[in-house]
Amino acid sequence: MRKRLYLIKIFLFIFVLQSHQILFSQNSTAQEYAYKNEVVSSANEIASEVGVKIMQNGGNAIDAVVGTAFVLAVVYPQAGNIGGGGFFTARLADGREVSVDFRETAPMKSLRDMYLDSLGNVIPDLSTYGHLASGVPGSVAGLLYILETYGTKARAEVLSYAINLAENGFHINGELANALNEYQEDFLKYSVSDNIFGKKYSSGDLLIQTELANTLKAISEKGRDGFYKGWVADKIISEMNRGKGIISYDDLMDYKCIDRNVIKGTYRGYDLITMGPPSSGGICLLYLLNIIEKFDIQKLGFTDENYINLLAEAMKLVYADRSEFMGDMDFVKVPVSTLISKEYANDRMKYFQFGVSRNSTDVKSGNIFHESNQTTHISTADSKGNLVSLTTTLNDVFGSKTAVEGAGFLLNNEMDDFSVKPGVPNIFGLVGNSANAIEPGKRMLSSMTPVIITKNGKPFLVIGSPGGGKIITSVFQSILNIIDFKMELDAAIDAPRIHHQWLPDVLQLENKRLTKKTIKKLSDIGYKVKSVHDFGRVEGIIFDDAGNMKGHSDRRGYGKAVGF
Ligand code: GLY
Repeated sequence: MRKRLYLIKIFLFIFVLQSHQILFSQNSTAQEYAYKNEVVSSANEIASEVGVKIMQNGGNAIDAVVGTAFVLAVVYPQAGNIGGGGFFTARLADGREVSVDFRETAPMKSLRDMYLDSLGNVIPDLSTYGHLASGVPGSVAGLLYILETYGTKARAEVLSYAINLAENGFHINGELANALNEYQEDFLKYSVSDNIFGKKYSSGDLLIQTELANTLKAISEKGRDGFYKGWVADKIISEMNRGKGIISYDDLMDYKCIDRNVIKGTYRGYDLITMGPPSSGGICLLYLLNIIEKFDIQKLGFTDENYINLLAEAMKLVYADRSEFMGDMDFVKVPVSTLISKEYANDRMKYFQFGVSRNSTDVKSGNIFHESNQTTHISTADSKGNLVSLTTTLNDVFGSKTAVEGAGFLLNNEMDDFSVKPGVPNIFGLVGNSANAIEPGKRMLSSMTPVIITKNGKPFLVIGSPGGGKIITSVFQSILNIIDFKMELDAAIDAPRIHHQWLPDVLQLENKRLTKKTIKKLSDIGYKVKSVHDFGRVEGIIFDDAGNMKGHSDRRGYGKAVGF
């Protein structure tokens, strides 16, 4: 009898927890701030361990992020890359705040309507598969520039880990085996005889990538010239010729990564630095935080329909402006200071009313439920005070599915991040306008959001995520969970998220975020609610007041935060 009563009590307790919707919201393992020296959080444990090793051997967080990024190109080819691009944001030990744009660029032979047929319709797959989908890769130039400018270690040492893993192999995990198998047909269609992409794999197989090792050796020996000139460049151009691509020798030689000013904001007494255009990520994040700062969301509650209503309406406004105003600032004027000002955020929210969902404009929408995580983020930090947030991408999973024959690496399909036709959504369902139209030499708009947050000048949080158009909202909600809902880092990152991107007019909820009752209330006020798979894979490092650190790699992925 006592046992039955006990079981009933437990059952009631669980029922109460569930009805308050806190089972999935704030559970946490309350990890220790165990690391005094360094932490690397990335999408792959081998890569994180290399980053930590580089710092244990005397390197700083910049050496570590570069070493980790090159290793990801070997062990996590879904997104880790040398054929893509990315963004680096850092707060250096001496207090400097810097960012580097190594985004891909449109080849000089690009045309505004290059993905449209004679009737002006988008030709399916042309901006997402094969040779014409690739922008000029920026990762090698960017990573080497970051290393030379802010790192301390020799190129050969930092690259040696990636070379070793490519040359001697590593045992692939289930995630990579499944991904390679899933895209086998695409590889066979777009790539030739690379011996890697297009084969069937099982978890635990030893993957040796001799061609990639040779490419990495060329980079190690000759620096950027080992990639943008010489035999690797020859291989890229041969590959272009084979598949009617348009990247030329001049495009490769002329590629430049660019120092950009970080963009800055504040949120409830915290200071943020993040990436400006050609990423929309930083602007959108600060804009969202400015909106939310006016509301006591802790009082509303993490799973309350009013909180979801507020987030969704804020997201609609921000993504509408993203579509209208944002593009490469070297080509179009982006009103950054207005978009990140608190006044503008207040003004834009003046129509907001709890309990009301405003209709998004009626613009053609795409398949928003295709969600790719194939961008990847690395957060690193060291005890000297260097904080690094770097996001890099091939765009979609394995990019354009085109491996450069003889050089063993995949090319991006980043041209799809341009607005190939105004109002027509890209693979993330994002629509754009003339600000993000294709032009030779222009950089396509990104959502990558590498962020560093400090409080009273002291390190607080290094964070970022993949997730296409959902990068911004993944990073945004992780920050709210930490600052407003006081969640532990792991719970904040792992908690289910919501997403609204204005168009299509759909409120996307990760499974298990809300009860049926709350979802009904949201539907009743006009939201088209859809349950979606996991999105975003946030990599974070957080500091306590004494400067001790802990890291967390999103439970949605297979990564790991490693520290010392
Ligand atoms: N390709 C994803 C992004 O740059 O946002």
